[in-house]
Amino acid sequence: MNKAFLLCGLLAVAQGAIASTDGVDKTVRFMAANCAYCHGPDGRSTSAIPSLAGMHKTRFVGSMKAMKAGTQASLVMYQIAAGYSDAEIDAMGDWFANNK
Ligand code: HEC
Repeated sequence: MNKAFLLCGLLAVAQGAIASTDGVDKTVRFMAANCAYCHGPDGRSTSAIPSLAGMHKTRFVGSMKAMKAGTQASLVMYQIAAGYSDAEIDAMGDWFANNK
């Protein structure tokens, strides 16, 4: 495969990715999907890990920021929370709160 052809392919993939994330909702859905492995699909947990679906936004945001800052003890979440900005945490808080 020549390099020009490969570059065209990569550009096509990149444009497809941009086109498919046109709405804020899709971006939030994508972030929330990262939580599904432990917190269940759409935040509906079937294990000992708490559900996120329907969690009050104030509690979600407070908990995420406290785990990120290390003021709320967490074995796992302090690392995950550190990967998200305040704006992203806020957006996920809306999404989970409205996803009952
Ligand atoms: C690898 C498993 C794993 C993933 C992935 C994960 N979590 Fe967690 N989460 C946990 C565990 C375990 C806890 C309990 C606290 C601890 O020990 O870290 C928790 C706790 C929480 C809490 C606190 C709940 C409460 O009742 O106060 C929130 C909020 C949370 N997670 C949000 C998220 C979000 C948002 C994502 C995705 C961006 C996510 N988690 C991804 C394992 C995970």
